[in-house]
Amino acid sequence: MSTTDWTPYEGRIAGAATLEALDAIEQELFGRKQGAMTLALKALGNLSPDERRVRGAELNAQKQGLEEQLQGRRTELRAASRGSLADTDPLDVTLTLPRAPRGHLHLVPEFIRSVEGIFGRMGFDVADGTEIETEEYNFDLLNIPADHPARDAQDTFWVRDSGIGNRTEGERLVLRTHTSPVQIRYMHAHTPPLRMICPGRVYRKDADATHSPMFHQFEGLMVDRHISLGHMKGVMIEAMRALLGGDIEFRFRSSYFPFVEPGLEVDVRWRGGAETKEGRWLEVVGCGMVHPQVLKNGGLDPDEWRGFAFGFGVERLVMIKHGIRDLRMLYEGDMRFAEQF
Ligand code: DAH
Repeated sequence: MSTTDWTPYEGRIAGAATLEALDAIEQELFGRKQGAMTLALKALGNLSPDERRVRGAELNAQKQGLEEQLQGRRTELRAASRGSLADTDPLDVTLTLPRAPRGHLHLVPEFIRSVEGIFGRMGFDVADGTEIETEEYNFDLLNIPADHPARDAQDTFWVRDSGIGNRTEGERLVLRTHTSPVQIRYMHAHTPPLRMICPGRVYRKDADATHSPMFHQFEGLMVDRHISLGHMKGVMIEAMRALLGGDIEFRFRSSYFPFVEPGLEVDVRWRGGAETKEGRWLEVVGCGMVHPQVLKNGGLDPDEWRGFAFGFGVERLVMIKHGIRDLRMLYEGDMRFAEQF
């Protein structure tokens, strides 16, 4: 009888590139009906007992060889398809795992940190105030008496007195409408010359795309013997450029705040809103020379000391910096928004 030459199968097993190709070869050899080895084994039945013994032993050895070869190649292909050395070396210390995703600070605190860095380099101390203020500090000591129209522009939330803490009888409390009261508290607590900024939350009864009932400001105060408006403009320009980039377009405009004289505002060209091709001017800073009465309220002699103060709106600057159209997106906590930065 003719004997089968198995070497072509051996060559194909060694060269099989995928597990599927290997399965196909196995089928060709050991398939129940048409497998080449299956048929060869069946054919043993036609032989004489002597021939069958010799030929049977030979075929069994060949069958076992082919099975072992198939198994070996299968192990190799599996390891390769896993793309690691894990099968051959379970202690592979070179294994590189995918990086875990890392978050980042919210845009508002991130911005405040950069503010602290920029003013810190100009020698400004970072101070803290309280979010619940007395009517006196939030308004009166800043030259905003009860009948002053400026109070209407800062309509806010009055807080019922819980009686906790050591305060004067009948004192009225508000959620501070601006960080300006920290100017007075800082003057009370420190001896000039002074340079401080104070970032923090403030509250007003406003809500639309550029206003939120809670937002952030940072106040600044510089007091010394020979301070002029020129010093103030220099610091403002330096800060605006450092915060928003050297090519930012801004303008100074005269304005009115009861606690400064003269008072100015800084507007920045805002392209995120896209109302017009040129963009619109957005007011982001109030500033001015500290009013002599406010220096007095802070315990300083206005004949000896002069100063300038400023208040920046943080969210508006963040909107301009990142081209955000609606300030409310900063507070929605939507990851599709947060992950863009
Ligand atoms: N407190 C003002 C506001 O909230 C902003 C401001 C204006 C602060 C002028 C200042 C200043 O220190 O000098 O609208």
